[in-house]
Amino acid sequence: MSKNIDSVLNENRVFPPSEAFTARAALRTPEEYARLHRWSVEQPEAFWAEQAEGLDWFRKWDRVRNWDNPPFAKWFEGGRINAAFNCLDRHLAERGDKVAIQWEGEPGTAEDRRALTYRDLHREVCVFANVLKARGVGKGDTVAIYMPLVPELAIAMLACARIGAVHSIIFGGFSAPALVDRITDASSKVVVTADGGWRRGQVVPLKHIVDDALKNTPTVTSCIVLKRTGQAVEMVPGRDVWWDAATAGVSSECPAEELDAEHPLFILYTSGSTGKPKGILHTTGGYLLGAQLTTRYVFDLRHEDVYWCTADIGWVTGHSYVVYGPLANGATVLMYEGAPNYPGPDRFWEIVARYKVSIFYTAPTAIRAFIKWGDAEPAKHDLSSLRVLGSVGEPINPEAWMWYHRVIGGERCPIVDTWWQTETGSIAITPLPGITPTKPGSATFPFFGIDAAVVDDKGNELPNGQGGFLVIRQPWPSMLRTLWGDDERFRDVYWKRFAEQGYYLAGDGAVRDQDGYFWILGRIDDVLNVSGHRLSTMEVESALVGHDAVVEAAVVGFNHEIKGEGVAAFVTLGVGAVKTDALKDLLKRHVRDTIGAIAAPDQIHFTDSLPKTRSGKIMRRLLRDVANGVESKGDMSTLEDLNILAKLREEED
Ligand code: WT7
Repeated sequence: MSKNIDSVLNENRVFPPSEAFTARAALRTPEEYARLHRWSVEQPEAFWAEQAEGLDWFRKWDRVRNWDNPPFAKWFEGGRINAAFNCLDRHLAERGDKVAIQWEGEPGTAEDRRALTYRDLHREVCVFANVLKARGVGKGDTVAIYMPLVPELAIAMLACARIGAVHSIIFGGFSAPALVDRITDASSKVVVTADGGWRRGQVVPLKHIVDDALKNTPTVTSCIVLKRTGQAVEMVPGRDVWWDAATAGVSSECPAEELDAEHPLFILYTSGSTGKPKGILHTTGGYLLGAQLTTRYVFDLRHEDVYWCTADIGWVTGHSYVVYGPLANGATVLMYEGAPNYPGPDRFWEIVARYKVSIFYTAPTAIRAFIKWGDAEPAKHDLSSLRVLGSVGEPINPEAWMWYHRVIGGERCPIVDTWWQTETGSIAITPLPGITPTKPGSATFPFFGIDAAVVDDKGNELPNGQGGFLVIRQPWPSMLRTLWGDDERFRDVYWKRFAEQGYYLAGDGAVRDQDGYFWILGRIDDVLNVSGHRLSTMEVESALVGHDAVVEAAVVGFNHEIKGEGVAAFVTLGVGAVKTDALKDLLKRHVRDTIGAIAAPDQIHFTDSLPKTRSGKIMRRLLRDVANGVESKGDMSTLEDLNILAKLREEED
């Protein structure tokens, strides 16, 4: 980026937490936040040593932080710890009979409701850990997990953690070639899967997809298959075994390995905009500490809470906030297998009411879908158990935030808009619900230990009001350690740009407002350059979503003879709105009036849906190709629905 981003945002609404909420919260005053944050960045070793006391260690560390050889950080060197032990064993004495996982399957029958206590989960994990050992899995071996969102997914990952095997979870929506890439890159020996999973009433044939993949993965010797959907599958003798058969009669005695704090815990692949997926590597002590501490403070977690993060465990959000973070805190986690609109668009709210969910964490893409489905759906259910709401994955447009606040939160629940990445391991910029006055669309302030800043292309910190690169200026415990097998790419992607300063490049644009609040402006690669002004996609999109007729919008640049780049907007309308040229004109004028002529779209395309990754992020790169009328190249394996692109192109003709 040659020049900084011109921020045009203009959001003045502020929502302080209620006095009643603050009175009961774990952290209560802005002074407390300021003091702890200052301590955490000025004396990180002292701060983190104290926080690490919240975990159980077999042996305490010799050194808290080692940053002698950047960008390769080490935390708690010499310490010995086990993540599964911290999530299970240490809770048994005090709350062995507390529900750890309350699971609901998509079909919603009686067998689709299971409650596993900490004692149950501990037993199942020990048994499965012994199964893995019997199949030749040892410390440092990688295990690929490709499963629906069922308790056995958590059991398999914790079983790996227990014996020091490295899990590599592959989201159940990926195809056979995506599996081949990931299994090969990590040299996984064992694959854990299921016959199928439920999605919108249909069976996703997981085992069948695995069979396809395993034709091209010579490292795999063993495949363990959970029976979930019950359709016929092929079992290859010698290689494949049913979960039930493998676990029958197996001992539930399995001591947790005393692992080095820097022992690899998992690999999780995340797609770059081009090239092969990046295997993000997280290690044990620092990662677990980040997940545990953020879950506790960001959601103000209490023992009586029923905590629901709607993410699939196939994404980092599910790793940190369905499994490791809440279980390390001894919480009750709700886990739901299926789609938010099956059998009806009120499915989530029915679940909230049935289990009295008190903390609810979801993504903006889901929130925009709820808005589209209408206020009547949540109104059918009692949502009064909710006390904290969270958002993650994309910038949340202020109007979507307001809807979440009003309709789901009953204007009573603080919203934590949490910015982080697969790479950061845990939440990095976020409100603290008892403290931070929130502003719709802002992730507000850095969490403890996160030394975040907005800088120009030379690495100089920018004054408030000027947009630039979001960086983190010091290492933090739950940061990625490298890209699996590719230290060089790790340096290139995250550390090269500000090598001189030693800053971590997040790849997002951001701006701080006059009060110092952080606003995430979207990926730097998506920034528009209109007549020499650099504009963030988020701001133009939020202006569009602010119009009553619009529920979702994606904005991209296209080659424009005069302006350099013109603004093209792809817009999804709400129920009742009609796709007319008059509405296009109205929307252009609306953007001009709310943020200025420079941002007014040159093109508006109405569309019923937008191309998204399987985790719900809009793929603007593909829309850029549509707006420019060129063919799309590069990796499309993460695109949720290939038909959308074809449809968009048709609409252009
Ligand atoms: C990217 C990371 C981390 C969990 C899920 C996504 C975007 C994430 C926010 C937010 C604005 C956000 C960023 C980031 N992002 N949360 N609250 N506000 N943008 O993980 O797939 O690694 O994606 O998601 O662009 O860099 P991920």
